[in-house]
Amino acid sequence: METSRVLTQLLTQPDDWHVHLRDGAMLRQVAKYTARQFGRAIIMPNLTPPVTTVAAATAYRERILAATHDYPDFQPLMTAYLTDNIGGIELKTGYDEGVFTAAKLYPMNATTNSAAGVSDIKAIYPVLEVMQQIGMPLLVHGEIVSQDVDIFDREAAFIETILAPLLLNMPDLRVVFEHITTRDAVDFVTAGGSNIAATITLHHLQINRSDMLTGGIKPHLYCLPVAKREIHRQALRKAAISGNHRFFLGTDTAPHAIEDKESACGCAGIFSASHALENYAQVFDEENALDKFEAFASLNGPAFYRLPVNIRQIRLVRTEQQIPQTIGSGELSISPYRAGETIAWQFQGVTPT
Ligand code: NCD
Ligand code: ZN
Repeated sequence: METSRVLTQLLTQPDDWHVHLRDGAMLRQVAKYTARQFGRAIIMPNLTPPVTTVAAATAYRERILAATHDYPDFQPLMTAYLTDNIGGIELKTGYDEGVFTAAKLYPMNATTNSAAGVSDIKAIYPVLEVMQQIGMPLLVHGEIVSQDVDIFDREAAFIETILAPLLLNMPDLRVVFEHITTRDAVDFVTAGGSNIAATITLHHLQINRSDMLTGGIKPHLYCLPVAKREIHRQALRKAAISGNHRFFLGTDTAPHAIEDKESACGCAGIFSASHALENYAQVFDEENALDKFEAFASLNGPAFYRLPVNIRQIRLVRTEQQIPQTIGSGELSISPYRAGETIAWQFQGVTPT
């Protein structure tokens, strides 16, 4: 174990494989936090209206590039939002043209801006068959939406009723099980083949449901899938540091204005982009597994997506810093994840090439 107080980690620049950048003024406010740390980011398509066409994804990518012009090396990787009506040709065209990197499955009404999501997975089986054929990754929000299924059981139910049958039908479909929150998901991915991987958020590595619900309800720790019991958090930590190359970094950073979070019907989503790498580093440090951090953050994701690893390096230093109470102002004010808390690491930038 490293005993010195100040410790420096140089590693291949990471990518963030699950990001909500929003649009308009919010995009212009938050995009820099992702772009300053990460080489690439998989951009979620749940705008209003959702990104369902090549033209919409191309235009959105332009808006993101404009919002990140201070970080010209940052590459947004776009995704298509699957609906009951999306056509295989649109997906294939976008994939072939290098506009769509992947497509995202939101079960209808599972989470923020998912009303246009898929009502019955069987309806899009023909489209998924096209994706299987061309090797285009399917990114899944893995929750069943049903009043009969308790919210804490929705991920496990998704595996049983949707994901496992889907993979039996399409054994070569390449799937990223996004923001996993349960031991069930860890076990499912671990047992799967090379075509199934998972992203793990920093907040699901750091908090359990009691953190959200004791000492007063903490709306800023509410996200979907919701944080689970401690045994699940422990399983996620073990998976992240396991060295298994099918687990990798995806923050699911999802900004909402403070007034939309601190509300009688608060939105799901945690804005974690501002101090993402520091929080992940802290987890690996606590687990005495900093030697496994680069694989999780920088190598496993590109390997799954069949992309080269980033050329540049970043510097992280073990020295304390305090997270600000708020980011932005007025109606765009956001409460960043762990606002006001002191954390153990600092991101010190990307090495020039
Ligand atoms: C996301 C959002 O706000 O767009 N919210 C969340 O709680 N993670 C949507 C999502 O990824 O589920
Ligand atoms: Zn998300």
